[in-house]
Amino acid sequence: MSVEDIHSVAVVGSGTMGSQIAHVVALGGYPVRLYGRSQQRLDEATTACAGALRQRVAKGKLRADACEQALARVVTTTDLEAATAGADLLIKAIAEDREAKRALLVDLDRLVPAHCIVASNSSTIPSSCFADVISGPERLLNVHFFNPALVMQLVEVVRGPHTSAATAQTCMEFVRRLGKSPVLVRRESYGFIANRILFIAMQEAFRLLDAGVTGLDEIDLAVKNGLNWPMGPFELADLVGLDITRDILEQGYEQTGEQRWRPPRLLTDLVEAGHLGRKTGRGFYLYVAGRRQAVPLRAAG
Ligand code: 3HC
Repeated sequence: MSVEDIHSVAVVGSGTMGSQIAHVVALGGYPVRLYGRSQQRLDEATTACAGALRQRVAKGKLRADACEQALARVVTTTDLEAATAGADLLIKAIAEDREAKRALLVDLDRLVPAHCIVASNSSTIPSSCFADVISGPERLLNVHFFNPALVMQLVEVVRGPHTSAATAQTCMEFVRRLGKSPVLVRRESYGFIANRILFIAMQEAFRLLDAGVTGLDEIDLAVKNGLNWPMGPFELADLVGLDITRDILEQGYEQTGEQRWRPPRLLTDLVEAGHLGRKTGRGFYLYVAGRRQAVPLRAAG
């Protein structure tokens, strides 16, 4: 299937990633059906995306008519069958839970047309884990967006051993049409490219903090001012979500057996306490009305 054959896109998952990906696709001119399990969550997510896009209009970065047309292209539904019927491309963006993904893909395989490309937005679970549940696995691959997807340029297009060259190329071209910068990952490998590098750096930041070398604010400042990262590792972990950060590291440990990926206690303690980062108002930092408070929860001591 060529990119010209993509007319209708379904996005499954109404979290931060799914909802922002749906709006990126709509900005690219495609009608999108966005599926979520709860209409309330869908409404909250689309309101947040609409707010971000209208802010872009206010700043003169996006035309008002282009913004409103894109918003009108996103149709939300809690009916999986209605979301996916007749889709040419499906992007699945649900939690990093292998069994939940598998169960969903079994259903999706039944619902989408035989030609539909099935893209998993997973950061660490390669599409080959599901090649046995998709009839015609040559149309299955990972297409990995970055958070916040409305802003970040990179999209990793990851070819599994079962993925056809044509499917990978169609997705590369589709991503370019969204105005994003795709990178082709030729072979599945833990963390693909960007996360493989980012999460080892995060582990080092966690180790520095744990060893009492300095406070987390100092580590964030050093990385921002010394390496020119837009955010320090702790701020970034709070943006990504501490549960997701832990899951990504756990996958690394499970898939490679290497100690360097093992999630540290200070991270798992926060997750177990329900402090998941920005989305819960508390992670490594505190957030009030979405704004980071100056005082980190664990300063230099
Ligand atoms: N959702 C949507 N849009 C957001 C946003 C969010 N959470 N946060 C910021 N933005 C938008 C703003 O609306 C603004 O858009 P505009 O310029 O079009 O109006 C733009 O981003 C810049 O925002 P600000 O001027 O308010 O703030 P900054 O200049 O500080 O930029 C940032 C914010 C883009 C988030 C920047 O700090 C950044 O690039 N941080 C690093 C993000 C990063 O590394 N992401 C990758 C994480 S790893 C990952 O996603 C992989 C996954 O598998 C875990």
